[in-house]
Amino acid sequence: MLPLVAIISCLQLKSQSIQVTIDSQAGKPVINRNIYGHFAEHLGACIYGGFFVGDSSRIPNSAGVRNDIIDALKKLKVPVLRWPGGCFADTYHWKDGVGAKAKRPSIVNTWWGGVTEDNSFGTHDFLNMCEKIGAAPYLAGNVGSGTVQELTEWVQYVNFGGASPMSKMRKDNGRENPWNVQFWGVGNEAWGCGGNMTAEYYANEYRKYATFMSDWGNSSKLFRIASGANSGDFKWTEVLMRDIPHHMLEGVALHHYAVIDWNNKSSSTAFTEQQYMSSLKSALKMEELVTKHSAIMDKYDPAKKVALIVDEWGGWYNVEPGTNPGFLFQQNTIRDAMIAGVTLNIFNNHADRVRMANLAQTVNVLQAVILTNREKMLLTPTYHVMEMYNVHQDAALVPVTFRSPDYVLGNDTLAAVSISASTDTNGNTHISLVNIDPARSHEVRFSAGNIKHKAISGRILSSPKIQDFNSFEQPDKIRPVPFNGFTNTSDLVTIKLPPASVVVLKMN
Ligand code: AHR
Repeated sequence: MLPLVAIISCLQLKSQSIQVTIDSQAGKPVINRNIYGHFAEHLGACIYGGFFVGDSSRIPNSAGVRNDIIDALKKLKVPVLRWPGGCFADTYHWKDGVGAKAKRPSIVNTWWGGVTEDNSFGTHDFLNMCEKIGAAPYLAGNVGSGTVQELTEWVQYVNFGGASPMSKMRKDNGRENPWNVQFWGVGNEAWGCGGNMTAEYYANEYRKYATFMSDWGNSSKLFRIASGANSGDFKWTEVLMRDIPHHMLEGVALHHYAVIDWNNKSSSTAFTEQQYMSSLKSALKMEELVTKHSAIMDKYDPAKKVALIVDEWGGWYNVEPGTNPGFLFQQNTIRDAMIAGVTLNIFNNHADRVRMANLAQTVNVLQAVILTNREKMLLTPTYHVMEMYNVHQDAALVPVTFRSPDYVLGNDTLAAVSISASTDTNGNTHISLVNIDPARSHEVRFSAGNIKHKAISGRILSSPKIQDFNSFEQPDKIRPVPFNGFTNTSDLVTIKLPPASVVVLKMN
């Protein structure tokens, strides 16, 4: 266990000393496992050709879902999975995706490539897949082009155990017991693709939908999530927190992508160091966003009952050359590992308010953890960071304060080092450290004092170049390896963080 207050020093190589404090007594919120959540949309090859290959595929599958993906996501300990969108959610009519597959209607996926959606992957497919993965499902309801009745019936279809037209339909479609889905999104990006609404208009819509999704006292304990702000739109959060009664609001969402420039997002692999820095700057903005949205929520909800749910985040670049621009397929480099590491540290450190986050997206879309190419599958650097960090799930946050050395490029500076720490129920303390500086090591010193630990071990993810990635030819080029770059005496733990690296240490 960590002591009351342990002191860490973080030294730059030029021996400029920065003192860092770890305070294990400061409140100790638990890091909700759902901060490590994911997002799967009917977009490009995320569902079709990604998760879902159909049960007649020669790729080994269970009810059409790839076994290798299920295994990889189980290993990742994916706690929650959001579906079916995204923008797609507000065009999705769930009844199109249940019942005999041959009889399901086709629609056009207007947001993503204009492709035909045959609805062969629907509610049963998704919820049964979540059961196999061990992830809680998070269903995003259609507010933009749907109705209150439609969403209410979806809730009944998947959750009602008694006799009703919806539960009868579910049983007729092969599922006797309800799935008891807790997490429900009330629309998505209502300010944009979800209906281009004003915050005031959406707040009223939300109240209407939330009213009919549950009963007077929300006895089924639904966790209803309001479609949240776009990045720095603080007014949106203010209006929702002001206008929606909190007894019908369990979470407010926030979306923020790490983008260099929406008009010129640049290549996911062929980028300059300046572009690397711009991406990281955009990712690190999450700290300011979470702090400011939380402060607004604190004003209306000082007891922190309503959660901040960052249900879309990640790096967004130009699509890979030659791929459909509407499919958002991009490669995943060490830059993405840095984005994942620093963002998850931010979420951990704000665990008092951030209680779920969903990386966009799981397979073949944006900052994916898995890429597929026909029967081949690879794990991206982002997968490995999320796997290394899953030790923080449901562990007690150990707050850290420190002043990072700068990563300097020309006239730009960013904090080079990012840290979060937690203690799990077995008494193991894990510290995740990221050094985004691609050229310089940074030394971190734990003044061990009375930190009671017998052993330290660690893993590191790194690669010589920030542009490095795992390809189908070299799928294991980047993977975590044991980390020995520390010295451990009774008083002092000294860690040398290599350039552009993510390290997770275990002290027990
Ligand atoms: O994740 C891709 C898209 O980004 C989602 O569909 C939408 O919600 C956001 O704009």
